[in-house]
Amino acid sequence: MMRTHKCGEVRRSHVGQTVALCGWVHSYRDHGGLLFIDLRDREGLVQAVADPKNETVFALVQTLRSEFVVKISGVVRLRPSGTENKNLPTGEVEVDAQAIEILNTAAALPFEISEFNESSEEVRLQYRYLDLRRPSLRKNLILRHKITQAARALLDKEGFLEIETPFLTKSTPEGARDFLVASRLQPGSFYALPQSPQLFKQILMVGGLDRYYQVARCFRDEDLRSDRQPEFTQIDLEMSFVTEEDVMAVTEQMVAAAMKVATGLDCPLPIPRIKYRDAMNRYGSDKPDLRYGLEIVDLSEELKDCGFQVFAGALKEGGVVKAIRVPEGAKFTRSEIDKLTEFVKKLGAKGLAWIKFTESGPESNLVKYFSKEELEKIASCTGSQAGDLVLFGAGPWKQVVTILGSLRCELARNLKLAPVPHLFKLVWVTDFPLLEWDVTEKRWNAMHHPFTAPSAEDVPLLETDPGKVRARAYDIVLNGVELGGGSIRIHQKQVQEKMFEALGISPESAQEKFGFLLRALEFGAPPHGGIALGLDRLVAIFLGEESIRDTIAFPKTQKGSCPLSGSPSEVNLKQLDELHLTIKGIKK
Ligand code: AMO
Repeated sequence: MMRTHKCGEVRRSHVGQTVALCGWVHSYRDHGGLLFIDLRDREGLVQAVADPKNETVFALVQTLRSEFVVKISGVVRLRPSGTENKNLPTGEVEVDAQAIEILNTAAALPFEISEFNESSEEVRLQYRYLDLRRPSLRKNLILRHKITQAARALLDKEGFLEIETPFLTKSTPEGARDFLVASRLQPGSFYALPQSPQLFKQILMVGGLDRYYQVARCFRDEDLRSDRQPEFTQIDLEMSFVTEEDVMAVTEQMVAAAMKVATGLDCPLPIPRIKYRDAMNRYGSDKPDLRYGLEIVDLSEELKDCGFQVFAGALKEGGVVKAIRVPEGAKFTRSEIDKLTEFVKKLGAKGLAWIKFTESGPESNLVKYFSKEELEKIASCTGSQAGDLVLFGAGPWKQVVTILGSLRCELARNLKLAPVPHLFKLVWVTDFPLLEWDVTEKRWNAMHHPFTAPSAEDVPLLETDPGKVRARAYDIVLNGVELGGGSIRIHQKQVQEKMFEALGISPESAQEKFGFLLRALEFGAPPHGGIALGLDRLVAIFLGEESIRDTIAFPKTQKGSCPLSGSPSEVNLKQLDELHLTIKGIKK
């Protein structure tokens, strides 16, 4: 047996015992003739001491360097009184080293293994194995494991089967580009890596498997951000013979179990719900952050006859006037307001109208355009008092709410209204429209995906007024981030065909892309629905991490590369030949 205990496990109860420990030399120092080593493994640190009386051990310890891998055997004893380290679980004891064996050496490190390491992310990812030795990254991966296990246990208890679906598959559209894999056996043909297991999980329901789940890797070739990776993980599930309520109930149990494991907190259930339209009106977003107020207020009716042309004009054209009250915002300086104006201008607003409410009344260069009654209505509708600031948006509904929604988040960031971590606000967003008009492409797009069922009574509208059709979809939002999305699916072939038609997909094209689904729906597909949660996001938010990269063992950079392995990389001509591929612009 190489070791008897883990370094981080040694306690007062082991005093007097001989232990064998293996680990990395975290640090070593010379104190009054004795040599001290902090030995580290996954469970933590323990202190070992080499006495000059033991000449062999003492000589060997002098050759140690940071991150050497060693085995130390010795007797556990209490540290001399006054030298205990209260910050370490092993801080009451130390190991009197009797024997030491160097299991491996380590080259000079590119960076220090510490939470204070300020190396660039590129370098840290290149030497990810060193970065992974940091306690915080290790803790994140341990908690990710525990969260996944908690979800698995819950789903197992609820009768779900864990079933794998293919990676080499046909494109399943979730709105991003596909990663393609060339087929060697079928020249000129490609597999797509799955953007999600969507179609296969539906087909599992047709296959009578009743309840499926998978901790599923998904691949999407899209622009990367702190909460997006080209490959990421979903906790993906599907259920037969259910309504929205059943899927939402299981999801709530799962999120609560994950929250408990990750944070120790109990998740208040049921999770509140908000309709899409209300979320947009009140928070300017379909993923509202409910950790703070700053709600958007509609003033269209109150200001319909006002003398301010920008507002009156917008209202005459069928638009809206909306506002946000910033409590105690009257103290914002001119340059702070200018910065907010620049912020909304970048989003497409022409400017940012504002009024400060002060002890001596409303102040702004706009005040002269409003009657006393109108100013009073602005104050009462927004709930403003002396000391507050009101910021306005005017124009088409969607534009105004989304810009004010972004402004609301920017204000919360500036005013530090959303402290991380330990404040978790979950909300379901429901009653989405099924379709969304794509202004550039001039066609309808599915707001979720083309397999989401329309509300039964809205099916006829698919042909006459597609924009009015409501979807049987639900998103779960955590602290302003879309954590997951799901829906009841279309299980009847005719409805699925109508949906493709509304999306401008010709019957031939539908057949070519989704013929296998349409065919499956002909053979007794049960009513079914499901959801997928973004596991990386869930872990990141519960652990208070800014980026999902800190919850993934081997993430990609913003440019989609892996500095550790050097992917993506060129391949040799033989490989390309076998795949019947030539690269444009590269001569053989
Ligand atoms: P959707 O596309 O909403 O739904 O994805 C579900 C959840 O997956 C996470 N997610 C991502 N996480 C990290 N990086 C990405 N690039 C990324 N893209 C998505 C998000 C998102 O909410 N098939 C449907 C689910 C269903 O209808 O059952 C789907 O994939 O947290």
